Amino acid sequence: MTSNPVNGTADGTPRWNKVWVIGASTGIGRETALKLMPMCAELFVSARSEDKLAEVAAIGATVTSLPLDVTNASEVNEAAARISSGGEPVDLVVISSGLWRKVNLPDIDPADFRAAMDVNFNGVIEVLAAVLPAMAKRGSGHVAIIASVSGYRGLPGASAYAPTKAALINLAECIKPQLDGLGITVSIINPGFVDTPMTSVNKFPMPFLMEPEEAASIIVSGLERRAYEIAFPRKMVWSLKLARMLPNAVFFWLVKKMVMRG
Ligand SMILES: NC(=O)c1ccc[n+]([C@@H]2O[C@H](COP(=O)([O-])OP(=O)(O)OC[C@H]3O[C@@H](n4cnc5c(N)ncnc54)[C@H](OP(=O)(O)O)[C@@H]3O)[C@@H](O)[C@H]2O)c1
Repeated sequence: MTSNPVNGTADGTPRWNKVWVIGASTGIGRETALKLMPMCAELFVSARSEDKLAEVAAIGATVTSLPLDVTNASEVNEAAARISSGGEPVDLVVISSGLWRKVNLPDIDPADFRAAMDVNFNGVIEVLAAVLPAMAKRGSGHVAIIASVSGYRGLPGASAYAPTKAALINLAECIKPQLDGLGITVSIINPGFVDTPMTSVNKFPMPFLMEPEEAASIIVSGLERRAYEIAFPRKMVWSLKLARMLPNAVFFWLVKKMVMRG
């Protein structure tokens, strides 16, 4: 099925009925929500910042803002219950909520590691716990988790963040086969560097930096195809996938030479 910018599909029907984007107040999640807006009958947007969500919700007539903190199980459950209050559960959930904390060794603040794991990993679990049973009961649904190419191999400075993304990549592998059997599609989305509030604090070079609109286009096209892995940009993805196959000695030599120089 091909999409058109107004109704979502060539025959004029929306591509999805109910779509929920979490982490939709800024960055990749916001742009993805904007792209999905004309492609679904109802769009629900979540994050903590009510004002930014209200701006997104004001753009479309069928958009509802459901502010929440992904680390708060009752807020996540309440939002999921509101979405399915008409009877039908959500069709597509995109989980874009996340935070980045740089680590400057040898100083470690365990709070940074806890915060990253709470939001980036446990927050995803809260959402999955809230939506999967109803999707399974209906026998259809699609959950899309935004991880990162940083989950492919560990890199300096990313020790609070990248392990949470590696955990998400592994989580998706764990859940996909069984959810396939229940009619639920799993997508794992692994972006490289995207120019968003999250990366605007970075002082280091960010190769192949992309605009969030471009990232959102790639994501939505992958979601339409129900792709399992949606990873971009290609050069970044293949460099890190190749790095995964290198012997450790070669990998660490390259990291010292190329990532830690200067
Ligand atoms: N930008 C990149 O280069 C890049 C690369 C790879 C992967 N990613 C991943 O892509 C996703 C989106 O990142 P981004 O770059 O678009 O960053 P961003 O602009 O900072 O967006 C992060 C989103 O997460 C929400 N959020 C943070 N903590 C939350 C919480 N506790 N509960 C609910 N929502 C929360 C934020 O909204 P509130 O603050 O309003 O809650 C915001 O909407 C993240 O998972 C990130 O790790 C980004």
